[in-house]
Order: sequence, then C-alpha cells, then structure tokens
Amino acid sequence: MAILEQQTSQQLIELENKYGAHNYHPLPVVLSRGEGVYVWDVDGKQYYDFLSAYSAVNQGHCHPKIVNAMVQQAQTLTLTSRAFHNDMLGKYEKFACEFFGFDKLLPMNTGAEAVETALKLCRKWAYEVKGIDENKAEIIVCENNFHGRTTTIISFSNDPVARQNFGPYTNGFIKIEYDNLEALELTLKSNPNVGGFLVEPIQGEAGVYVPSENYLAKAKSLCETYNVLFIADEVQTGIARTGKLLAVNHENVIPDILVLGKAISGGVYPVSAVLANDAIMNVIKPGNHGSTFGGNPVAAAVAIAALEVVRDEKLAENAEILGNLFRFELNKYIDTSSIASLVRGKGLLNAILINDDEDSDRAWNICLALRDNGLLAKPTHGNIIRFAPPLVMDKEQLLDCVSIIIKTLKQFEN
Ligand SMILES: Cc1ncc(COP(=O)(O)O)c(C=O)c1O
Repeated sequence: MAILEQQTSQQLIELENKYGAHNYHPLPVVLSRGEGVYVWDVDGKQYYDFLSAYSAVNQGHCHPKIVNAMVQQAQTLTLTSRAFHNDMLGKYEKFACEFFGFDKLLPMNTGAEAVETALKLCRKWAYEVKGIDENKAEIIVCENNFHGRTTTIISFSNDPVARQNFGPYTNGFIKIEYDNLEALELTLKSNPNVGGFLVEPIQGEAGVYVPSENYLAKAKSLCETYNVLFIADEVQTGIARTGKLLAVNHENVIPDILVLGKAISGGVYPVSAVLANDAIMNVIKPGNHGSTFGGNPVAAAVAIAALEVVRDEKLAENAEILGNLFRFELNKYIDTSSIASLVRGKGLLNAILINDDEDSDRAWNICLALRDNGLLAKPTHGNIIRFAPPLVMDKEQLLDCVSIIIKTLKQFEN
C-alpha cells in the first residue's frame, strides 16, 4: 500500500501538516521506535527521550511486561463497555485502591476526563454531603494551572491561547495565586459555597513550578478546617515521577480526591482514574457518569502491569537519586553559565530557566540543538525547558545526558 511505503521525515511532517489539524507545534523529528530511555527516528538516529510523552512513559518505552500484558489481554477480551461486568475491572480496582490507599476508583481514559470526573464528584459531594444550595458550589483553582483541554477546564485556565474564542465559559471556579496560603485562607473564609480546592502538587506546564515547603500540607489542613475537598491533580506528577509514588507524599498529604493519568498505563494505552474514599465516591450513582472505554479489560491489565513495574523496579527511589544528581550537576554548570540561570524540580521532573524573555525563541532553538546532539526535550515557555526522562534511566545514562545538555547550552553562551 502506497501510504505504508518508506517516507522521509520531511514527507511525513508534510503529511501531518496537510491532513492533520494544526493543534500542536511539534519539534521537527519523526520517531518510529522506542525502547527504555531511547527513541529512534525514521533514519535510525538514536535519541535520549527527555520528555517521556509529558511524563506518561515513566516506565520507559515499550516496557516488555506492560506490552505483554496488553497483547495478552487484547487477544482475550478488549471491550465490554460497562453494560456488563468484565473479569479484569474489579481486580484492577482492588489492586489500585490498595496501591494508593483509597476505598474506591472511578476509571476513565485521559487526564482531562479524570479532572472533569473529579470536578463532578466534588460538586455532587458539595450539594449532597456538605449541603451547599443548588447550583451555588464553587471550586478553588490556581493561576497558571494546567488540567487539560475540555471546555470546562479551559474555562478556569489563564492561558489566552488555550481559552480565546472557546467561550462561553463554565462558571463555578474561583482562581487564586498558586503557592499562596493567605489567598487560600481568605477565599475559604469569605466563601461558604466552596466545595473543593483543585491543585497540581508541582505546576508542570507552568514550567515545573515547585511550591514552597509545606504548602500542600498547610493547604490540606485549611481545606479540612473549612470542610472543603483537597483535590490533587497528579496526572503529571504522580506514579514515581517526583521521587515518591505521589508528589503529595513528600508532605505526607492524603488528598480527598486523587486524579491520575499518563503513567498509570506506562504510556502504552490511555488510562486515567479518580480515587476517593467511600464517603465521597458513594455520591456517584448509576447514570451519573461514565465512559464507553473507561475500565475496559485492556486498560485494567495494562494499569496493573504498569504499577507493578513502578513498584518492582523501584522507580520512585531511582527518580529521587537521579533527580538529585541531575540538579547537582546542572547547578555546578549554572554557577558559571551566561545562558542558564536556574534548575528546579523534584525527582526527575525538572526545568531550566534560560536567560531570555518568556516569549523568545531561545528555548526552542536550544531544543533543536539538543535534538541534533541526541536528546529530545521541549520548552514549556520561550525561556523554560522541561527535563523529564523515563524513570528507568541509570546513572551512567543520566550523566551522559547531563553532558549533552551542558555541551548544547555552551553553544548558546555569548
Ligand atoms: C496536571 C495535568 N492534568 C491534566 C492533564 C491532561 O491530561 P490529558 O492530556 O491526558 O488529557 C495534564 C496533561 O499534561 C496535566 O499535566
């Protein structure tokens, strides 16, 4: 078939440009294979993947255990819908609930769907348990948040590109500054209709913004005082990325509602989930919420395997050790660098700040040079580059990556 014939990178990019909607601005590289921490382009050039599909591929590309689980299940039973039971869903729900320490799980497919689910769950709880008057419930969110792309979620984004001309927007959200406990307390105190506080434990898309120490623990305690649900969006920070199973574990916080996506499947299949205890989750009744694919047997088999890999290969511990090494090595370079001013992050979710304007093309150009030097990363802003390799990386590979990054940054020094 002509469409499957060997084509050059340029031809493949042109196909996407001609036939695909232009809703992304990818780095010009066309990948055709992945294994562990590496990906290869159509010409066979090897790269370190330093993005991990926005932290979905924490377990490394094509992890054999996860791929096997998917293939075996796909040959047995793929989809029943929730009209009937299947023999995998309950096993997965039990496994994941015990893994994360919650009573119940609600299965979805994408991160944005899981966030939407959490918002609906929170609102229903606010009316039926907290006793807020009909249609009056509010949820507090943070400035510079990123929770996905649905109409409701972009309603409380402050990214003009994500929002503009997608109105009218959904009401019921109060936006406060991230990492500002006073703002949170003031809003809780002055607004009895608040049902929940939705927060990213580290703001990934905003540029890996790590809040002050104990911010999460204190925010959780304020939520308890005001009988408000603490909703942790761990779609990007969860599943070992930041050096703990969940980023909230750094501050011993147990969220009321936990939102997971991305790496809960090891990046082989769309799986997401919302977890909560019975007192909250039991407000959801048949017909209130659902998804044809949510909780399908392939997703269940894949998620169990993906979580087992995280546990058995001690990926959180590895992320913690390698993350410290990464920041230590880059800080040594930054001390004398004229191009990079800061490295920040936790575990293997990090970013460097480039000395330039937020809307410059400097970070993009550095990413092009990194690509030429064999490492793939992507800017989150014109002057911020996120670094998030698969967590199966070893020390030698990490140091190799550090030297590629430093060598590349040096090309941009003046
Ligand atoms: C914190 C957070 N929440 C939600 C999402 C949305 O996930 P998805 O792209 O799977 O809808 C993302 C995606 O980057 C995210 O980083």
